[in-house]
Amino acid sequence: MTSLQTDGRVADGRLLTVEDLRTTFATERGPVCAVDGVSLTLDRGQALGIVGESGSGKTVLSRSIMGLLPSTARREGSIRFGDQDLLGPNAPDMSRLWGREMSMVFQNPMVSLNPVMRIGEQIAEPLRIHLGMSRRDAKATAIRLLRDVRIPEPDRRVDQYPHELSGGMRQRVMIAIALACGPTLLFADEPTTALDVTVQAQILELIAEQRAERNMSVVLVTHDLGVVAGHTDVIAVMYGGRLVEIAPTKVLFSQMRMPYTEALLQSIPRLDQKSHTRLNAIPGRPPDLHDPPRGCAFAPRCAFARDRCREEAPPLATAENPDHKFACWYPVGSPEYHETKERISAGLEIGSTS
Ligand SMILES: Nc1ncnc2c1ncn2[C@@H]1O[C@H](COP(=O)(O)OP(=O)(O)OP(=O)(O)O)[C@@H](O)[C@H]1O
Ligand code: SF4
Ligand SMILES: [Mg+2]
Repeated sequence: MTSLQTDGRVADGRLLTVEDLRTTFATERGPVCAVDGVSLTLDRGQALGIVGESGSGKTVLSRSIMGLLPSTARREGSIRFGDQDLLGPNAPDMSRLWGREMSMVFQNPMVSLNPVMRIGEQIAEPLRIHLGMSRRDAKATAIRLLRDVRIPEPDRRVDQYPHELSGGMRQRVMIAIALACGPTLLFADEPTTALDVTVQAQILELIAEQRAERNMSVVLVTHDLGVVAGHTDVIAVMYGGRLVEIAPTKVLFSQMRMPYTEALLQSIPRLDQKSHTRLNAIPGRPPDLHDPPRGCAFAPRCAFARDRCREEAPPLATAENPDHKFACWYPVGSPEYHETKERISAGLEIGSTS
């Protein structure tokens, strides 16, 4: 059950409920449905990972929830945030929620930070605009936030410009800006892709630490299943704008059913790899959203596809665990899956001996 604080914010329980969300862009080539019938929930303090290849709709889904879309976009379905209906007739003015209730850390801090403004002023700006703080109080809070995000010598750094900081430090500043007004929900959209592996781990640790301290919910968006493995409670896998598998993190890793999720897992870069290149990138291309396939959108790339897959799109069905859903006719572990595996390995054996 959801309980509210005196300021009307959700203290615990359900924070976000998305039902059958569709986001369509009007383009010169016709409509593009970038988010297609997505439903999910998020509790206060929970971390959700949204995973999928480039173009699968992760950013559009996050921006659809935040109401940060261009005018060519149309949203249908339902988004409830606490006790507010964000798409209903009495939807709140989203600019009142930005910063205070929901905020976003973007992928590239060099693009998002203003190069000619001191970082302290950039952190202080939302505090002054949204919370009405005085210049002096906002600067003191900015220093405290820099300390919270583990930036050394915050009293000195507060007066520096973005170019005086390393990539990792700039991303910490972005997190400080996003945390400034104490949001209940933080979106982190690929917050670590531009960073090296050690700094990536530190940034993820920092987000996890701040989530626990603030009882904040986090949506962590990434193309890398490895990134979300240790930092989320639930993982949602997207393909071609749809949710194709969703499960508690441990369940997903131990009982994944969707061949696409399995392929994503096999494409995680290994620590012993020399570069960031993928070990086993999934062959083929994601679907063209202007002309989506009739059946399962993954069928042209799926080793387990059969005729039914090309004819009928599989619905999101519930697995043995009621919190686990997947969309596949012949899931990992099914007799058809094993049969195909056997045929593939027999084929490989013949190939290797001939
Ligand atoms: N403004 C827009 N107009 C038309 N189509 C758009 C627009 N923004 C996004 N799309 C389309 O929506 C689809 C999903 O895009 P999105 O940015 O959500 O992908 P993503 O999963 O975040 O990918 P990446 O990992 O590269 O960030 C893409 O096919 C993209 O071309
Ligand atoms: S429905 Fe068919 S094509 Fe789609 S993932 Fe499952 S087996 Fe592969
Ligand atoms: Mg994106």
